[in-house]
Amino acid sequence: MSDPKKQYPEAYAICEKFIISKQNMQEIVTRLTKEINMGLTRDTHPRATVKCFVTYVQELPTGKERGNYLALDLGGTNFRVLLVNLINDKEIDITGKTYAISRELQEGSGSKLFDFIASCLAEFCKEHKLERLNTPLGFTFSFPCKQVGIDSGTLVAWTKGFKAEGVINKNVVELLRDAVKRRGDLKVNVVAILNDTTGTLMSCAFNHRNCKIGMIVGTGSNACYVEKTVNCETFDEYRNSTKPNMIINCEWGAFGDNGVLDFIRTSYDHQVDKNSINPKKQIFEKCISGMYMGELVRLVIVELMDKQLIFKGQSSQKILVKGNFDTSFITEIESDQPGSHRNAAMVMDRLGIRTNNEKDLDCLRLICETISTRSAKLAACGLVCLINKMNVKDLTIGIDGSVYRYHPNYHTLLTESMNMLLAGSVKFELALSEDGSGRGAALIAAVCAK
Ligand code: GLC
Repeated sequence: MSDPKKQYPEAYAICEKFIISKQNMQEIVTRLTKEINMGLTRDTHPRATVKCFVTYVQELPTGKERGNYLALDLGGTNFRVLLVNLINDKEIDITGKTYAISRELQEGSGSKLFDFIASCLAEFCKEHKLERLNTPLGFTFSFPCKQVGIDSGTLVAWTKGFKAEGVINKNVVELLRDAVKRRGDLKVNVVAILNDTTGTLMSCAFNHRNCKIGMIVGTGSNACYVEKTVNCETFDEYRNSTKPNMIINCEWGAFGDNGVLDFIRTSYDHQVDKNSINPKKQIFEKCISGMYMGELVRLVIVELMDKQLIFKGQSSQKILVKGNFDTSFITEIESDQPGSHRNAAMVMDRLGIRTNNEKDLDCLRLICETISTRSAKLAACGLVCLINKMNVKDLTIGIDGSVYRYHPNYHTLLTESMNMLLAGSVKFELALSEDGSGRGAALIAAVCAK
């Protein structure tokens, strides 16, 4: 590979702005710890940015859960309906159907969105002859929700590109039940609402008994962890609950919304934020997750192209359009074997730039690596914060999301950063959690239906 530092000093200088030193990582851990404590504490919770919602999930799976459950998964560009059969302590069978959530549905009226969800559910149930069975259903709804019970969650804010009207401050379980009732052709029993991180933790805990954290790095980013019930002050029974633990949905995507991450943000981060549909919100998420990584890369490339420093003599309309550099392109480019530029050239071709200039393509790769490395470092800070908070010395962390799942080095980058911060004091395993939104929802539904 050519040396971009010499060949592309300007590009290298931009990339340097995204590098987070060990000292800054430690500072991020300290700051996040403070924000989490504010979220957990009754007095400070209302003004906390990292909300730390109680999930009302107080038990991890035992492996004895059995039966058929329905799961709905809403939280990204796809919506899924799943039928989950918990067969024995090792086998879980899942059949499901995926439906695209159009932009109109994401940004239109809330009742249309819930009617659509109910219609997909009805279609699926008819196909599987379930429409009259009142099957227990777990609703994976991956947005910040204030819960007052396992089957009650009020949407606090939309994230990840959603803005359907009339849903904020409503109990989304009621919206779902109402939409099902309006149809009148279906009987299901909505027993639980959960976040995808909670589903991920539960699903992973089914196979790894010492799983204590669930993390998502996909369209959005967030994590949940096992807290001592006595520390969960926003839970009414925190002092006298018979159950010692509670899963906390951190909603860490909002970390930094009060400015505490400004010391590491770049002008590109500010631009991404300004052009988003939720400016000044989800600041940590905007530095980490798939909805924004590609856009950060695009902004850097466009600046270098404007200055005639890369892809000289070439231009394209496509690359100038916001959102056109999909995060999956980063994954593809970084999947090129050393010395090969096959994927990189293909990606640029799709964006209207035909080139075989290896130095340019090396530079492009450097930009991608810069953004993924920073994402992984920040996610590692989050995980280390939770590990220290729980004060455990040995654990498994269940992870899901498109970035973690498909990026060729993300797992390694995360592991390296965590090792650097933990310096051997904790034994941890990062495990890909299989289908948390489906399996996890079913496991929680099983515990509730018990
Ligand atoms: C966003 C949502 C959060 C979810 C995460 C990952 O941050 O607010 O609830 O867990 O995305 O999907």
